[in-house]
Amino acid sequence: MNNTNSNNAHMIAHRGYSAMAPENTLPAFKLAGENGFWGAECDTSPTADGVWIVMHDDTVDRTTNGEGNVRDFTFDEIRALAIDGGNHTEQFPEANVPLLTEYLDMCKQYGLYCVIEIKDCTPVEMLGDLAALLSAREEKERFTIISFGREHCLKMKALMPETPVLFLTGDFETDDFGENIQFCLDNGLDGLDFNCDWGDEAHVKEAIEAGLQTMIWTADDPDVVKKYYDWGVRDFTSNKLPPKAMEGIL
Ligand code: G3P
Ligand code: CA
Repeated sequence: MNNTNSNNAHMIAHRGYSAMAPENTLPAFKLAGENGFWGAECDTSPTADGVWIVMHDDTVDRTTNGEGNVRDFTFDEIRALAIDGGNHTEQFPEANVPLLTEYLDMCKQYGLYCVIEIKDCTPVEMLGDLAALLSAREEKERFTIISFGREHCLKMKALMPETPVLFLTGDFETDDFGENIQFCLDNGLDGLDFNCDWGDEAHVKEAIEAGLQTMIWTADDPDVVKKYYDWGVRDFTSNKLPPKAMEGIL
């Protein structure tokens, strides 16, 4: 399957095709595959018993019928929760919290590139377990790791040197694009994945000219995708824009 637009743009389903199914669930990843996305992004952190699951928040409160920190649940406990947050939950009553390996299996089935965000709540000392899990997968050359955590990025780059690691940025109050570029260059990170409301043309072009990969989130406006495309970005994470939505625009 080739889900790359003829213009080499890569549309990546953010938390799966999350406009059409509850975020970070298997139905959302399946719909990403069925709708021609090139890749699928997910969020992962470990449960109390060290099982890597797929969920965005540090707590289960927003997206399930439970309450509390992900880190305080065993996998069996978190699996028993119902998904009640996100889009179109009523259409997917069987949806539950996936294992990271279930996300990987679904992506493999549909040929989706995997963009795996490690949540900051993840203890850095547990990243060896994650690297072992990912390194054992035969499709590992189709993985990119992303994280807002500087330590998480550095540790994963050390553990999986062949795998692209992108530093997540774009906080208007705390991030400086120039410093973020230098952080990547100084530490051998592969690039930046940044907030599409935050990036500016000069820094985007500086990053690309410096040899860094660039990815943006969350690109739900075709005009924003076009703007960044014209600046040289090719990887676009979106809740709701499969490749066919960009036909005639890129
Ligand atoms: O794709 C990166 C993006 O997901 C980072 O922000 O909060 O949606 O995980 P967030
Ligand atoms: Ca994410």
